[in-house]
Amino acid sequence: MFKRASGLHYHRFLRRLHSAHLFDWYLEIGCRTGESLAPVRSKTIGVDPFFRAEINIIGKKPALHIAQQTSDDFFASGFLANNRIKLSTSFLDGMHLFEFLLRDFINTEAQSDAEGVIMLHDCVPFSYEMTTRDLANLPQRAWTGDVWKLIPILQAYRPDLTLTVLDCRPTGLVCVTGLSPGNKVLADNYENIIRQYQDVTLEAFGAERFFDSFELASALECEQAGFPQWKAASIDPSLAIQPQLVST
Ligand SMILES: C[S@@+](CC[C@H](N)C(=O)[O-])C[C@H]1O[C@@H](n2cnc3c(N)ncnc32)[C@H](O)[C@@H]1O
Repeated sequence: MFKRASGLHYHRFLRRLHSAHLFDWYLEIGCRTGESLAPVRSKTIGVDPFFRAEINIIGKKPALHIAQQTSDDFFASGFLANNRIKLSTSFLDGMHLFEFLLRDFINTEAQSDAEGVIMLHDCVPFSYEMTTRDLANLPQRAWTGDVWKLIPILQAYRPDLTLTVLDCRPTGLVCVTGLSPGNKVLADNYENIIRQYQDVTLEAFGAERFFDSFELASALECEQAGFPQWKAASIDPSLAIQPQLVST
């Protein structure tokens, strides 16, 4: 009944994506140790209310802005608009409750380039247990929360978007293209959507109905094809910097 995302691990997929493509601006919401942030070579903004960076997260980035705050506070700060930043590629991996991811998507799309790409993490759970909204009783191991709801929500409210659900281990990576930064459908229907989906569990929605509603696309084939979803969003790779040691 569950379709398991068992392709390339998402960290490996992201490392290969960033090695193949350079973007003008990359946004990551939910960075934790920096493992998904570290391989980025583009100008970057990382947002997390509690960073635990344990590795070199600067690497080959020409610029790295860190906002140690919630994504809601970050978007409310106006940082992106004040600095006239249009996002080329974003990875949304913050709070795993669907209303948070929905707001992150709405706010990110509004500040994205129309040719940009937004990646949503953890939307393909492999058990009911991991989809719980009970923050006081999270499962010991993987927790996706109920962000799986973004797939039916975007399918219903934004059929103009293209969703490619990649089979990245362990819980999928949804790649959203065809963005319309001026589109207000999700924002205008936000309260209705929350009311409609708040209490719906995956069991009640129907796991079969959910997994029948999309194809799991091969992340490996996506890589072998040169990451086609990102081609329009990427910039000349010769602009990548090679940091040089200037003194010892
Ligand atoms: C699953 S971890 C991110 C993992 C990281 N992207 C990676 O792949 O290595 C989720 C992160 O989201 C952060 N987070 C929780 N609530 C958040 C919020 N409201 N806004 C932004 N980040 C949030 C947590 O602090 C945590 O570090």
